[in-house]
Amino acid sequence: MENTQLNTTLRQAVEQIRRDIPRFGDLYPHNGDGMTYVLTENNHWMTSFWLGQLWLAYAITGEDIFRAEAQRRLASFDHRLVNRIDESHDLGFLYTLSARAQWQMTGDPAARQLGIDAADRLITRFHPKGEYIQAWGVMNDPVEGGRMIVDCLMNLPLLFWASYESGDPKYGDIATKHARTTLRYLVRDGNRTYHTFFFNQDTGEPIGGKTAQGFADDSLWSRGQAWAIYGFALAAEWTDEPAFLDIACRLAEQFWKELGDDLIPLWDFRVPPDGPQKRDSSAGAIAACGMFKLATIVQDAALATGFKTHAEQMTRSLTQSCFETSPEAWGLLRDSSYNVAANRAVEQFMPFGDYYYLESLVMMSGKTVDFWGKASLRPVEGT
Ligand code: GLY
Repeated sequence: MENTQLNTTLRQAVEQIRRDIPRFGDLYPHNGDGMTYVLTENNHWMTSFWLGQLWLAYAITGEDIFRAEAQRRLASFDHRLVNRIDESHDLGFLYTLSARAQWQMTGDPAARQLGIDAADRLITRFHPKGEYIQAWGVMNDPVEGGRMIVDCLMNLPLLFWASYESGDPKYGDIATKHARTTLRYLVRDGNRTYHTFFFNQDTGEPIGGKTAQGFADDSLWSRGQAWAIYGFALAAEWTDEPAFLDIACRLAEQFWKELGDDLIPLWDFRVPPDGPQKRDSSAGAIAACGMFKLATIVQDAALATGFKTHAEQMTRSLTQSCFETSPEAWGLLRDSSYNVAANRAVEQFMPFGDYYYLESLVMMSGKTVDFWGKASLRPVEGT
């Protein structure tokens, strides 16, 4: 995208977000439904992606309307943490794009404390025997107690950040252990991922990989691979562990090879010809952000250029094929698929698709607004 085109796209995205402020009222977008969204209370894992879009819009424009709208919603995130509403490993997504983002953008100490409080809750989900963070369900649930999932890599940045802010290494230590377990069990064949993996939660013995949202246990759910690219890249940035950087690069190269000519991922790269040939543009947006991040942390200049070029090509394709500019539309990115296997929100707007698409545009513009990694941290007082 030429700079003028990119600026136009960013401006159009910001206007779409501005139009959504009165539409959403006090509620949050959940599944896309045609040109609109199903709106809910702050009671599911995706709600912070709306705040993330508001913070990015504020970073792009400096306009107070976006800051104020994100800021006024933080009380609702405080309420859900205290009341443990729909608590899961997704505390990471939820409090990175609400509490950490607000602290980063405004220096509000209450937001910083809320982010650390959320990290305190998240580490209670760690199983020391298997060295993994339990994804879903109440702790030690007979089934879910033994499950970790690949998406959780994107919840770890809250823990790394909490150690940075608090000076207490316990959060980052747990995040590092979980990332190592993910590398050992959720990565297979050197460059592909399982969606979820089970352990015997009493002994920590590994059992095996299982899908939840993919086509089959041994298929390749594209959004899972995308979460792993970005998540391992961020783990590499926070820890400097070469194994995390190496695997993030290999997963990214594999993702690129799986794409067709239009560069928009299928929801599962191993769906057979007689299975549902549905797209998941959100996987493309997340993978593009992961590749932009990789381009900033790999040492090799040619590798960095390659990742940046692929990320730009994917972002351009998303703009051409999936960016929605109609003033009637409530979302930014068409053709995200929440769960094709369960026929839930297939080729619709999804809040995480919208968020990561906007983040990929911001990364492409060269602006540094990093809510996940280390690129735009506030200095810790006294250092
Ligand atoms: N983290 C859940 C999903 O990607 O659908």
